[in-house]
Amino acid sequence: MKGKNYVFIANSLDGYIADKDGGIDWLNTVPNPDHDDAGYNNFMKKIDAIVMGRSTFEIVLSFGIDWPYQVPVFILSNSLQEVPKDYIGKVEIVSGTLTDIVESLNAKGYHHLYIDGGKTVQSFLQEDLIDEMIITTIPILLGGGIPLFSELPNEMRFEHTHTEIYLKEMVQSHYIRKR
Ligand SMILES: NC(=O)c1ccc[n+]([C@@H]2O[C@H](COP(=O)([O-])OP(=O)(O)OC[C@H]3O[C@@H](n4cnc5c(N)ncnc54)[C@H](OP(=O)(O)O)[C@@H]3O)[C@@H](O)[C@H]2O)c1
Repeated sequence: MKGKNYVFIANSLDGYIADKDGGIDWLNTVPNPDHDDAGYNNFMKKIDAIVMGRSTFEIVLSFGIDWPYQVPVFILSNSLQEVPKDYIGKVEIVSGTLTDIVESLNAKGYHHLYIDGGKTVQSFLQEDLIDEMIITTIPILLGGGIPLFSELPNEMRFEHTHTEIYLKEMVQSHYIRKR
């Protein structure tokens, strides 16, 4: 692989990325009067494209906000037949093996990929296709929901490079895959 694949995601103290109803309102439980982006825009500066699971795409659409991404977004889906009309030119649907998808994006010049979505991150990890993870932990126990991690065929080691604390409550740790 020519490029690098990154995870930038928030989880609860008990390891969930969405609550029992699939919601993410709990991400906003930390008071944030100055709209601190917790390193998001800085992270996005190095990203060439996003690979997003179909469920996460649908959640973004449900926000009813202007399209928030400046880079191309590739939606992983075996069920979506076509891109919703308003998103043509912004997103593309991709399917196939993850290795083939990453290789074809790298060949198109997208070398730094942001991998987003619960199942999506898990399946990239299962194939050892994640190079860096930036995980922001919010101090809340959700008691259930969509987990960030799942079972893996083998243990995977990471080097912890640094941790930042945002808004005195959000703990953001950077990990690089040690192969
Ligand atoms: N806390 C955070 O920072 C954060 C970030 C992102 C998302 N979220 C939350 O996470 C939830 C969505 O995550 P999710 O785990 O439900 O789903 P997801 O990873 O967003 O999407 C899963 C879907 O992607 C498609 N897919 C196709 N090939 C795949 C493959 N090889 N591996 C995995 N997926 C593949 C499938 O769609 P088809 O059925 O169409 O084939 C699958 O159902 C939402 O509630 C969202 O709000 C939270």
